[in-house]
Order: sequence, then structure tokens, then C-alpha cells
Amino acid sequence: MSVKKSTRRSGIKIMSSLILLLGSLSYIMLLAVINGSAGFICAMGITLFGAIGIAKVLGETIALSYGMIAAVAVVCGAARGLLRYIEQYANHYIAFRLLAVLRDKIFTALRALSPAKLEGKQKGSIIAMITSDIETLEVFYAHTVSPVCIAVIVSLCVLIFVGTKTSWWLAFVAMLGFIVVGIVVPVISSDKLKASGVRYRAEFASFNGYFLDSIKGIREIVLNNAGENRKKELNRRSDILLEETKKMKRDIAETAATTELCVSIFIVIALIVGILLVVKGELSIGKMVIGIVAVFGSFGPVIAISALPGNLTQTFASGDRVLDLLSEEPEVSPVDDGKNITYNRLDVKNLSFSYDGQTQVLDGVNFYAEKGEIIGIVGKSGCGKSTFLKLLLRFWRKNKGRINYNGIDIDDINTESLLDNVTMVSQETYLFNETVEDNLRIAKPNATTEEIEDACRSASIHDFILTLPQGYKTKVGSLADNLSAGEKQRIGLARAFLRGSELVLLDEPTSNVDSINEGIILKALKEQKRKKSIILVSHRESTMAIADRTYQIEDGIMYEQSRKET
Ligand SMILES: Nc1ncnc2c1ncn2[C@@H]1O[C@H](COP(=O)(O)OP(=O)(O)O)[C@@H](O)[C@H]1O
Ligand SMILES: [Mg+2]
Repeated sequence: MSVKKSTRRSGIKIMSSLILLLGSLSYIMLLAVINGSAGFICAMGITLFGAIGIAKVLGETIALSYGMIAAVAVVCGAARGLLRYIEQYANHYIAFRLLAVLRDKIFTALRALSPAKLEGKQKGSIIAMITSDIETLEVFYAHTVSPVCIAVIVSLCVLIFVGTKTSWWLAFVAMLGFIVVGIVVPVISSDKLKASGVRYRAEFASFNGYFLDSIKGIREIVLNNAGENRKKELNRRSDILLEETKKMKRDIAETAATTELCVSIFIVIALIVGILLVVKGELSIGKMVIGIVAVFGSFGPVIAISALPGNLTQTFASGDRVLDLLSEEPEVSPVDDGKNITYNRLDVKNLSFSYDGQTQVLDGVNFYAEKGEIIGIVGKSGCGKSTFLKLLLRFWRKNKGRINYNGIDIDDINTESLLDNVTMVSQETYLFNETVEDNLRIAKPNATTEEIEDACRSASIHDFILTLPQGYKTKVGSLADNLSAGEKQRIGLARAFLRGSELVLLDEPTSNVDSINEGIILKALKEQKRKKSIILVSHRESTMAIADRTYQIEDGIMYEQSRKET
């Protein structure tokens, strides 16, 4: 197994990879860029044709009549509106499409990586990725790529126009202005903006965390009469957050002011250069007016990109994380060109496994299971019991030996077929924030009501469900603590029964439940074992009493302990 080093990508690499993710949406991006550029040029056209009119008055030879000039300016105005609309529409179309596409990609990647690769990753960071990282990328796609392209295109057009139609000196001044406003100022201010942005987000997260925590724990706060202190602390943090917000806004405002100042300076320089050229007789007054107006109106697109750097560093970090996840190789790839099975028996021979290639968790394990028996597995915490069950489900790939279902090795069995035949109930059952019925149906989407109720009867949870306010239609959630651990486990068991798998793996199913629930669960298992193989991991002796045979794992080796006479 390789431990993946996280190699930092360069900004360019991240950008190009992210743009590649666009796929067929890149045509729409192109549409947005073309329309956005044309829109800006039309906007400039309105004042520019005004200037051309003035130049004509000043005696410049202009091929257009005054009527035509006015008409073109009006057309520019109307076209500006339409082009801007198309650009915005295209940008937001891309943005919302991409949210869907990226979530889908990430979810697909997570599915392939789970469960092995996700064990190590913090759930929180994955949630952050699915929510905020993707949100950040949306900003990149909708509000970064096209503005940058538009700025480059429009600026080039302006330079060429000003250079060829008026003076290359004016074009040169404009170019310096574009470089300072669009590149130099953003680069210089980016560190400051980044720092204040990071501080703001950290305070924001900390305040939110504290606030939510206080609401969740409000009962403890009231019981301990700790409200006053809590309020003080909340106020303190709120003040810090306000302070950071002010600082950040001030930094943003300062940058914006610097940008505006630079724009004004370059317009003044252009004006001076224009006047000098007129004085020297190198440029007519009419052309000077046209050139200056063109330069004057051309800073819009570069101003738009000067606002980007605050977001850009965050975007790159988010993009890097998303790309990391998308490029991660799964530990186990699903088998889909293998055989299908109908479980009959399990033989494990000489099975060895290590997570890191160094510490041997399982070493030459032999094991078998037949239908109609409950097999217990015991052993100290950390000895590899859960690992053994995960190998039986092919959540991880074995290093050596064989895991044979009906004589066929697990690596040659189609993953879907394997998961149809083998199911697991773990220490805690996760219930989705849906109805009881939906929570059961996840095991068998097209199950009939009878099947669902039968499974629940087998798991001794049917009568309890009927006592809930809306029976099977009652909403249960991971957040709603209205079910006890034992009840949740019994729903988990019902899920496993509904799934109909003939090999049921139970990983410490009773470790969090009281003895009444333990009794109920064990009774349910005993009734099911006629038709199935049940492998039961537990450290509770009371639970193990039900096993027909027991194995013990010690130092990676599995010993068969005893055979109960039945
Ligand atoms: N995903 C993992 N990556 C690396 N090591 C792991 C992983 N899961 C478990 N281990 C290690 O493997 C050993 C066996 O763990 P486990 O099978 O969970 O034990 P048990 O279920 O018997 O308590 C432990 O030393 C544990 O730290
Ligand atoms: Mg375990």
C-alpha cells in the first residue's frame, strides 16, 4: 500500500486542471468570453462614437455622417445590453451546471474510494470539500476565468485600436496602465488581502462553532447557571469578529482605492501625452480626443480582475484539495467481470493482511463458516477482528491467502454479487434523516410492505415501530435522539435481514446496548441462523454464549477455540 504524498501543484497546473474539468461546458465559457468582450467593446463604443462625432466637428475626416455616428452609438448601447445578458446567462449557466457536475464527480470518487480510503480521512474535511470547496470553485468558474479572458481580449483590442487609429504612444501609456492596474496592484495587495481573509474566516468559523455549541448545550448552560459567562464570551468573540471584519473591509477598500487612483493617474498621463503630441504636431486634436476617450473607457475589464486575488489563493487551495481527491487511486477497485455467487459456504485459507506493509494484522488465518451456524470471534481490542470482517467484504484487498465463497476466490467474484450475499451490521447503526421505512428500504429499494414488516418482526422491532407516532412513516434522524442505541441496532438488524444476505457479519452489535436489547438481538439471530451463516464479533461473554463455534485472534493468528455440542 502506498502512502500518498500530497504534492503541491503550481497555480498554473491547478488552473489548467480545473479548466479541463469544464469538459463540454468550455464551449459555453467561450460564448461567455466572446459576448463579454463584445459587450465591453460596445460599451466603449458609445462614448467612442461620441468622441468620433466631436472629432468630425473638429474637422477630422470621418467617413460616417453624423446621423450614422449617432445610429452606431445607439446600436452599441442596445447591443451592450443584449451581450451582457448573454454573458451573464452563460456564466451562471456554467456555475450551476458545474456545481452539479463537480458534486457528482466528487461523490463518484468518494464511492470508489470508500470505505478503505475514507477510514483515514476526516469526515469533516470531506464535508468541507463537498460544500465550501466546491462553492469556492464556482466563483472560479463563473467569476474568474471569463473576466480574465475578457480583460486580455478587450485590452488588446483597445491597444490595437488606439495604436493604429491615433498614436502608439497613447497605446503604450494605456498598456502600462493595464499592467499596473490588472497585474501589479493585484499582486502587491494579494498578500495583505489573503492574510486578512484568512484571519476573518478563522474568526468567523470560531464564532460560529462557539455559537452553535452554546445552542446545542443550552440545557447544560441553564442547569449550571452559566449563561452570564457564556454571554460574555460570546460578546467577546463577536467583538473580535467585528474587528476582523472591519480590518478586512478596510483592506479591500484600500485596494479598491489604490486601483482607482492608478486608473486616474494613467488617464491623466494619457491626457498629458495626448496634449504633447498635439503640441508637437504629431496628432490632430480630433484623433487625440478619440484616443483619450478610448483609453478612458478601457479600464473596466482590468478593474474587474483587480478584485480577484483575495479569492484566488483560496480558490487554488480548494482546487488542489478537489483535484487531490479526484486523482486518488482507490484501494480496491470493484470487480465487474467476475462470477456471481449464491452463498453457500465460506473458506478462508492462510489469509494474511497488513495495512501498512509492515505490521502484520492477520497472519495465516484459517477459518470456515457453514450455513446454519453462528460463529463467534473474540480477541483483544485492536487484534484485527473488524479487519477480518472488512476483508470478507473486500473493503480492503487481502495480501495473501484465499477467501473462498463456494470455492471461488473473493477477487474473482463480482462486487455487486458479493454485497448481495454478504452484509454487515456494525457497532452503531447509522439512521438517515428519513422515515423508518425509508431507512429500511435502503437495504432493498423495491421491498414490499410485508417484506419490511417481516424483517422488522425478525429483528423484534416491529412492535416498537408501531408505537411511534406515525409508525413506519415516522421520521428518525441521526440528530433526533428519539431512539435508543438498542432500538437503532435492531433497525440495523432488520436492514440486514431485509437485504436477505445469507452471510451476516456482526461487528460488536451489542456492545452499546443494554442487556434487554442484547437478549432481543441474540434471540433474533438464533432464529435466523437456520437459513444463514452468522459471524459474530464481540467481547461480551453473554453475547458469545450463543455461538456454535468460537475463534480467537491473538497476535495475528486465529485459533479455533471450541465446538459447542448441540
Ligand atoms: N484503516 C486502517 N489503517 C491502518 N491501520 C488500521 C486501520 N484500521 C485498523 N487499523 C489497525 O489494525 C489493527 C486491527 O484493528 P481492528 O481490526 O479494528 O481491531 P479490532 O476490531 O479487533 O478491535 C489495529 O492495530 C488498528 O490500529
Ligand atoms: Mg473492531
